[in-house]
This record gives sequence, structure tokens and C-alpha cells, in this order.
Amino acid sequence: MSRYFVGLTGASGHVYARTLIRSLVSAGCDVDVSITPAGCKVLRHEQGFDAGNDGEKLAQVLAPWLGEPVAARVRAFQGAAVEAPPSSGTSLTGGVIVCPCSMGTLARASVGFSSNLVERAVDVALKERRKLVLVAREAPYSTLHLENMLRLSRLGAVILPASPGFYHAPKTLDDLVDHVVGKVLDVLGVQNDVGARWKGIAAPDEDPGLGEARRGPPDEEGS
Ligand SMILES: Cc1cc2nc3c(=O)[nH]c(=O)nc-3n(C[C@H](O)[C@H](O)[C@H](O)COP(=O)(O)O)c2cc1C
Repeated sequence: MSRYFVGLTGASGHVYARTLIRSLVSAGCDVDVSITPAGCKVLRHEQGFDAGNDGEKLAQVLAPWLGEPVAARVRAFQGAAVEAPPSSGTSLTGGVIVCPCSMGTLARASVGFSSNLVERAVDVALKERRKLVLVAREAPYSTLHLENMLRLSRLGAVILPASPGFYHAPKTLDDLVDHVVGKVLDVLGVQNDVGARWKGIAAPDEDPGLGEARRGPPDEEGS
């Protein structure tokens, strides 16, 4: 099954969604996308694209946001469009990804609340036992956030926090974004070479990224 649903919410990190959708399409997948009202605000703030108040302009911003060829493989739905195909379990998908996932959407998802299409798509994934990946973003997490994550994890959702590693010696922001998105694609089982794959720690002289050269000279106190 090569159609995925990507839900955008009001958490920070819409750059992850951009790379994720592009990567899914590059891998030959079709993508359905919807956005919450708070998601519209964050998309505008972080990426500079106006999807309206409830995603009513999301379809129009896909081409400038994602690039024309990618946008052609993406269907956009308004947040209130609970009559859209992703609202029904009869509409087959390979999985649902909420990226980035706010603590608000995560909380509502953990109790089966479906007040918009993103939440309904999550609810459908849970009831149909389909792949569900929640790219959670908040810092720090409250006990309530963690309890909600635990409840969802026990129901089969994968909680994949937007917390990139640094062991692959990233040089750019894209390297960090790719590290998280590559993990999402791996969980979905979508073949990809988006994030750097760990090959072990090389000998110091073969490893300028992680060895002495990277650490630099000792400071004045010799530490
Ligand atoms: C610029 C901006 C960044 C935000 N970042 C986060 C975040 O990283 N995580 C989070 O849980 N909420 C974040 N919020 C707050 C959510 O947008 C807010 O709780 C909202 O009600 C979530 O609604 P939704 O789950 O329907 O998208 C942010 C809000 C703004 C305006």
C-alpha cells in the first residue's frame, strides 16, 4: 500500500513534514495531507506559507512549499473535512504519520477524540491496527504528556520524537531533519536513503567527523 496520510499540527518542526512528504513521493508513494488550525499558524510562522485558518488554502500552497512534481502526488484536505476518504477505515492507507505532533493532538488522540481530520485519521489507524507514527515535539515533557504517549504506545502507535541524533556528525540543518525523517520512513517500511546510517565508530585517523580533529585544541585551562 503506497498511500500515506500526513497530519500537520501546531507543534514546531514543519520542516520535518516538508522533507517527509517529499521523501514519500520520491519513494513512489502518494500522500494525503491535512492540517489543524494551529498547524496553519505554525506553518505560516516557520515556513512562510499561508494555508488559511483551517487548511482551506493548503492545496494552493503545496506546489510552492513542496515543489510542483511532489505536489502533483499530494491530496490536501481541510481540517474540518471529516467526510474525506482518510476519515474511513475503508480507505486503505499504508499508515498515518502526524508530523510534527503537538501535545494537544497527542492528548486528544490518546482518548479517541476526533475533532478534525488529523485526529480522525489517527483514530482510524488505531481502530484498524494500521501503522501510526507520532513525531512528537515538546520540551520538556510533562507527566501528562508522557502518560498520553505511553497510552498510545501501548495501543500500537510509534512515538518518534523530533529529536535528531548527533552521532552521524551532521553538518547542516538538513542533516538533522533527514535523521528524523529517515527513522519515520524506516518505521513505515519505506525504502530510503534519507538519513545517514550508522556504520560503527571508525579508527580515529579515518574519522575526522568524530575524532580529535573535530574536538579541536584544548582550551587555555588545558581541559
Ligand atoms: C509557533 C508555535 C510553536 C508551537 N510549538 C509547539 C510544540 O512544539 N509542541 C506543542 O505541543 N505545542 C506547540 N505549540 C502550541 C500548539 O500549537 C497549541 O497547543 C495548539 O492548541 C495545538 O493544536 P493542535 O493539536 O490542534 O494542532 C506551538 C504554538 C505556536 C504558535
